[in-house]
Amino acid sequence: MAENQLGGQQYLILPEGASRLIGKEAQRTNIAVGYAVASIVRTTLGPKGMDKMLVSELGDITITNDGATILEEMNVEHPIAKIMVEIAKTQDKEVGDGTTSAVIMAGDMLKNAGNLLDQGIPPAAIIKGYELAREKAIGFLNDVSNTVTIDDDKKLRDIAMISMGSKNIGGENLKALFAKLAIEALKQVADKNGNKVSIDRDFIKLEKKEGGSMEDTTFINGVLIDKEIAHPGMPKQVKNASIALLDVALEIEKTETDARIEITSPEQMQAFLAQEEKMLKDMVDKISKSGANVVFIQKGIDDVAQHYLAKAGITAVRRVKKSDMEKLAKATGARLVTSLDDLSKQDLGYAGQVEERKISGEQMVFVEKCKDPKSVTIFIRGGAKQSVDELERALNDVLGALTSAVEEGKYVTGGGSVEVDVALKLRDYATDVGGREQLAIQAFADALEVIPKALADSSGMDAIDTLVQLRSKHKAASGKSFGIDVYRNAIADMEKQGVIEPLKVKLQAIASATEASAAILRIDDMISSKGKMPSGGAGGPGGMPPGGMED
Ligand SMILES: Nc1ncnc2c1ncn2[C@@H]1O[C@H](COP(=O)(O)OP(=O)(O)OP(=O)(O)O)[C@@H](O)[C@H]1O
Ligand SMILES: [Mg+2]
Repeated sequence: MAENQLGGQQYLILPEGASRLIGKEAQRTNIAVGYAVASIVRTTLGPKGMDKMLVSELGDITITNDGATILEEMNVEHPIAKIMVEIAKTQDKEVGDGTTSAVIMAGDMLKNAGNLLDQGIPPAAIIKGYELAREKAIGFLNDVSNTVTIDDDKKLRDIAMISMGSKNIGGENLKALFAKLAIEALKQVADKNGNKVSIDRDFIKLEKKEGGSMEDTTFINGVLIDKEIAHPGMPKQVKNASIALLDVALEIEKTETDARIEITSPEQMQAFLAQEEKMLKDMVDKISKSGANVVFIQKGIDDVAQHYLAKAGITAVRRVKKSDMEKLAKATGARLVTSLDDLSKQDLGYAGQVEERKISGEQMVFVEKCKDPKSVTIFIRGGAKQSVDELERALNDVLGALTSAVEEGKYVTGGGSVEVDVALKLRDYATDVGGREQLAIQAFADALEVIPKALADSSGMDAIDTLVQLRSKHKAASGKSFGIDVYRNAIADMEKQGVIEPLKVKLQAIASATEASAAILRIDDMISSKGKMPSGGAGGPGGMPPGGMED
């Protein structure tokens, strides 16, 4: 039986209204959708890249250059577009930076695969070639990488500045301030074990509050809690604080079952209330006896208990988030106690100062001047919601980049230089491999070069001319770190210019771009039970970019 006749049988097994795209048609649509998604973020790459303004259904406005944020906020519907968004999310989660690069590389891998499909090369051969190329690219990247340590302030500063380069968060001086704060935070929480450094990003808290200006952004050697002190009678400022952390409710627990107490006289009522009050006072006495003068409580505090705490001169904060309790423990050395009977002096932590301050009309509690805290805070300020949000995203990228750099201990040169270098080596390797895979490896190499092309485009340089210049420069050993000087519209030595990036960010970007494009290429049958195929995340019908796929 002919194939299309068999295909016709689908209507017998699929629900009514279902639709299906098979073979080349499915591949072509998927490639177009993937490429369309990449095209959206392509113009944001690099320091000369543009920002996007996103307006949510509720009218909230986000202005950003961050690839992961743009794609997430777009709420794409097409399943292939969702895979592209996943690339950005994975990149963001794993390394924090390089999300735009990962997505646009995947876009070009797909587009170039489309050209190979047109030449009759089967998807399996393309995928095999891409995977061979990825393996090799990882090796080449490692070969050209250099060492960086947590004590190398200049290199860390360069990495931080380049990571922030494309973010619209003020001029060089401000960025230098943010770089300094991020490095300070990183060094404070770093855990050194011989040559190995590890950083738990969860313990660098980014707390933000609109108001003031970006210059007011500060580093806090401890934890900032977005809560107020429970009772006005408690001290607002405590020096040399002895801190207790309690996962206990300072309340009389209500019974779970519907118990009833029969009270028949006013005396009985009095006695009952007095009993309750005594229980609360006992709880406060236990805290007081431990020597604590500041207490953070994960649960609630009864009004009566608040009163006794205030009377005992103890400052208390209630309903503190579990994650903040963990941060407080790491910062002050206190141990989280779950029963008041267990509370003793040994469980207490220390902070040079605990103080409630009014920030833009709201109270916040600063737990600061801790002794060698393993949990710290960067307190982000800025005139408008959009700017504090973008600064938060930028600091996330910077902390991600710095963490990747010091954990792996390696960096490579940016500005498109390392991509051109790896592409050149891949093309040599491709000729050794030969066959159909050779073409796929070349296509992969071309896809890496989308980075220098996009950087050239954004600075108004001719992308093809620039690429040709870079390729010829890279043929000589002295030209290995040449990339695009986006501020002078010329090619230049990126190492000398301090345009450097963590190796891990590049490795992750290439890995997730290859994985996603291979996954998309493997699909030759799209069955949608919802009826018609979902429309593309962007561009015209079927997700085609408005101008088709330009080079
Ligand atoms: N001063 C500079 N000169 C040349 N290239 C630069 C400079 N600063 C950054 N770049 C390059 O810009 C690219 C990074 O751009 P960008 O930060 O916009 O995207 P990303 O890191 O891929 O994604 P995102 O930051 O959105 O997660 C890298 O290739 C980097 O080498
Ligand atoms: Mg970046």
